[in-house]
Amino acid sequence: MEIIKVKNYQKMSQVASGIILNSISKKPSLVLGLASGHTTLGLYKNLAKACKEKKADFSKIKAFNLDEHYPVKKVDKKSYNYYFFKNLFRKVNIKESSINLLNGETKNPEKECEDYEDNIRKNKIDIQILGIGENGHIAFNEPGSSRSSRTRLVNLTHIKGKALTMGVATIMQAKKIILLASGKKKAKAVRSMVKGKISKKCPASFLRNHRSLTIILDKGASSML
Ligand code: GLP
Repeated sequence: MEIIKVKNYQKMSQVASGIILNSISKKPSLVLGLASGHTTLGLYKNLAKACKEKKADFSKIKAFNLDEHYPVKKVDKKSYNYYFFKNLFRKVNIKESSINLLNGETKNPEKECEDYEDNIRKNKIDIQILGIGENGHIAFNEPGSSRSSRTRLVNLTHIKGKALTMGVATIMQAKKIILLASGKKKAKAVRSMVKGKISKKCPASFLRNHRSLTIILDKGASSML
């Protein structure tokens, strides 16, 4: 586990985009796992800028998103589908056929999750980007999610509703994981992840057993370490 402490959100986003852009230049057909949320917006902005300035080429990149609300229409502004097209996919030259999103409109969530899991197994994610929830969740794996959990439909407790999410075991299959956290409100979850007991109570703690985990924290998020 490598922990990179930086001073602010901007620097956190810069370090993350630096790692990803460097990886793309080494492997143009990189398979990326992507997280939604506020934390990763700066990173996506940097990637979009690099692409616009022709410093990065997404034409061979494949993307998988981590999770999606359920049920939700793709055009709904609260869907992660909407988020990813707005904040990244429409701004880079990724091929539509290389974009893999969990479908919040599916009538058969079990099959959707099974197919997604198979697709990830076949494609092998090179870098999985993650955020962390204040209760230690990763993707929509809330406290109580097991180390062996796979892509599935879950009930959410922190907000009312359901979601489709990669499981902890699905995430752990990625060759490299980069977790970003910003702000004081994430400090407690970050401490549990890094220093607490590895357990279902803090699903992010399972990541400590990953062979290539990089955690990038700004001042607020690292304030309890
Ligand atoms: C959400 C998402 C996660 C995200 C996390 C943090 O519930 N399902 O994928 O990483 O919470 O979100 P934010 O970056 O907005 O704090």
